[in-house]
Amino acid sequence: MRASSAAELVEAVEAAVAGGTLAPGERLPSVRRMAAAVGLSPVTVATAVAELRRRGLVITEARRGTRIGEGPPVGSLRAPLPVPEGARDLSRGNPDPALLPDLRAAMVRARPPLRLYGELPAMPELTRIARDQLQADGIPAEALCVVSGALDGIERVLQAHLRPGDRVAVESPGYAALFDLLRAQGLLLEPVAVDERGMRPAELAGALARGACAAIITPRGQNPTGAALDARRAAELAAVLAGSPGTLVIEDDHLGPVAGSELHTTVTGRERWAATRSVAKALGPDLRLAVLAGDAQTVARVQGRQQCGPGWVSYVLQTLVLELWSDPQVQAQIVRAREVYAERRERLVEALLQQGVHAHAPSGLNVWVPVDDEAGVIGALLQRRWVVAPGAPFRLGAAAPAVRVTTSTLSAPEAERLSEDLADVLAPTRWARSG
Ligand SMILES: Cc1ncc(COP(=O)(O)O)c(C=O)c1O
Repeated sequence: MRASSAAELVEAVEAAVAGGTLAPGERLPSVRRMAAAVGLSPVTVATAVAELRRRGLVITEARRGTRIGEGPPVGSLRAPLPVPEGARDLSRGNPDPALLPDLRAAMVRARPPLRLYGELPAMPELTRIARDQLQADGIPAEALCVVSGALDGIERVLQAHLRPGDRVAVESPGYAALFDLLRAQGLLLEPVAVDERGMRPAELAGALARGACAAIITPRGQNPTGAALDARRAAELAAVLAGSPGTLVIEDDHLGPVAGSELHTTVTGRERWAATRSVAKALGPDLRLAVLAGDAQTVARVQGRQQCGPGWVSYVLQTLVLELWSDPQVQAQIVRAREVYAERRERLVEALLQQGVHAHAPSGLNVWVPVDDEAGVIGALLQRRWVVAPGAPFRLGAAAPAVRVTTSTLSAPEAERLSEDLADVLAPTRWARSG
């Protein structure tokens, strides 16, 4: 690789990552060696590396040097798994389309007002209903705004408070797309182990002691494990966080009313906090809408910045969500979806247990199945025409290997067959371990 300026070097590295010549995790040479190799001064190379770091393409850590980040933000590096014809795809974490409300019918009923520049960013009626919903779940939702989905809200909150190089406590295993988002912002991940009740308090304390200045917590339907905070765990985490009053806490309620468990929050009484609630799983991912509550400063910063860019979330979408929220039939459908998701998830957990395979999933749309060899299990299941998600992108630090099965559309006979196949596939390794 040759370059005649810092900008050219940045472009060359970016092109190499997008083209796959430089792979995620690959180490870059030291600044001095790179300078000699590309024909630039060490100062110019250091400038290029700083820019790559700012853009989330590389990560620099004291003892590990500089390397290409996981999921760097160029091209689509995390392409979904290919699904061979005739195979059953349980890898994507999607809701069941049959359990989503009919958007076309709601679009006919919803009559979005004519909206021009210079008006309120959120519809007052939508804000009022969202506030009531959040407050009913114990979230002190005074300040609120509307964003384009949970991840958009999280990105905006992080941008409002954090800088590249800051550390963020995240669940491990946790949501791979969230990890990518943080890396793209040049933030460093501090993994916190989860059990079926969510983040483990002692591990969160460890992450804070290592300098995490923010924590992102999924209160229920944790992706990929299905963990959900109960009242005791939420109180334990709040007690740990109370020792770091300035720490930013973000709660990601990405499933909302279809999560299948109550919400227990950790944000009450905190100085800097935000809580997103997405409509993606209950009403449809394509609505791209979430509400974001938070302390007054956080919401003001998010809203102020949003107004400088896209301005607001379209009133066409806001009206549609309002129409859906106000429809008793849709409300009944949400209750039914919650019950069906719980039934499908629990059925697979139960069927697996009968085969001697232990998997927990107290809420959400997925079951996380511990395995010894992710690639081996995925390959063997593929031969039996099942596509499940590898655990690796969800795992950080010491999280044990597993595969993620999305149960949102899984029928009873399928749960039976899949658990038999999984038990079969796992049998040789289980036998080998005990032998
Ligand atoms: C934990 C978690 N957060 C956020 C999202 C995405 O939510 P949204 O579509 O509202 O950005 C998902 C999607 O599955 C998720 O699993």
